[in-house]
Amino acid sequence: MMWQGLIQAFKEDLPINQNTPELSLMEGNTPLIPLENLSNQWDVELYVKYEGANPTGSFKDRGMVLAVAKAKEEGSRGVICASTGNTSASAAAYSARADLDCLIVIPKGKIALGKLAQSVMYGAKIFEIDGNFDQALTMVRHTAKHSEYALVNSVNPYRLEGQKTAAFEICSQLGAAPDILAIPVGNAGNISAYWKGFKEYHQKLGTALPEMRGFEAEGAAAIVKNQVIENPETIATAIRIGNPASWKLAVSAAHDSGGKVDSVTDADILESYRLLARQEGVFAEPASCASLAGIKKQLQTGEIKKGAKIVAVLTGNGLKDPTTAMDSLTAKPVELQADDGQLLKHLEKELAK
Ligand code: F0G
Repeated sequence: MMWQGLIQAFKEDLPINQNTPELSLMEGNTPLIPLENLSNQWDVELYVKYEGANPTGSFKDRGMVLAVAKAKEEGSRGVICASTGNTSASAAAYSARADLDCLIVIPKGKIALGKLAQSVMYGAKIFEIDGNFDQALTMVRHTAKHSEYALVNSVNPYRLEGQKTAAFEICSQLGAAPDILAIPVGNAGNISAYWKGFKEYHQKLGTALPEMRGFEAEGAAAIVKNQVIENPETIATAIRIGNPASWKLAVSAAHDSGGKVDSVTDADILESYRLLARQEGVFAEPASCASLAGIKKQLQTGEIKKGAKIVAVLTGNGLKDPTTAMDSLTAKPVELQADDGQLLKHLEKELAK
């Protein structure tokens, strides 16, 4: 049967009822791609859950479809969120589909270009602040409390309910949970959602539990440092967050699963960003690559053992952030005249070198 989206596929496992609108952009059912080259090089069995294949290009669609459907069901006037870009793109798309108003508050100048373009196209009302995500989140919490707009950040429990379905899919795709689940950590909602999903599936189907290994960017590593970061900074703008809302849930997920919340540097993130594209043909946005960078780091420290079956979550599509991609250009395109023989001539010259 044709895939009909998350609510349809997982209705028994989601808090829906006959009044919940059947909202969908056919999100979910994303590929689990084996990384054959890196698996060989690193002596592990490595897969990526490619969440960039969702309709708005990130994992946010899993939570947003449910959060927006529930906002509609509950008669909200619209939805509101703070965002580093992906949440707002997803909220804008689903509220357009559900005919709800969408207000987004974003840190000025710190949103990847593709994400901003999406919010513009889907018709969200965009508010920029001279501040960071954490301040934007405080603003929208206040606004939601005193208005008829439903807050759709991951503090909305429906978000985590929707996002847990990615863990279900991984268990189905592999036949059981992997040994290790590696995931980027920003506001810490997704790691909490995956852990919930793995636990529920294990209870229902005996699919076992993975070690949850979360990775913050070093300049925004509040959980690792056990302190709020007032001015978080990282190239991975999606996870530029200094006071994660689901902090406690993330710590429990790591602790209860025998995993860890760790950090990776911007240099590590960029290295993995290129490695993934060049060695595997998989393009994910920088924040997503914190998961791969973390695996590399923990293989070196010995915290991850050779032979382990690992799934790294690639949370967002590489096309979201064309600026970072172009900044990593090492060789400029070669300019040629538009003439049949020119390319061959160039190749022969190169060979002769
Ligand atoms: N990866 C990407 C691409 C993200 O956009 C985010 C969060 C994360 C990882 C971290 O997930 O917050 O659940 O720990 N982006 C949010 C946003 C904050 O506004 O788009 P988390």
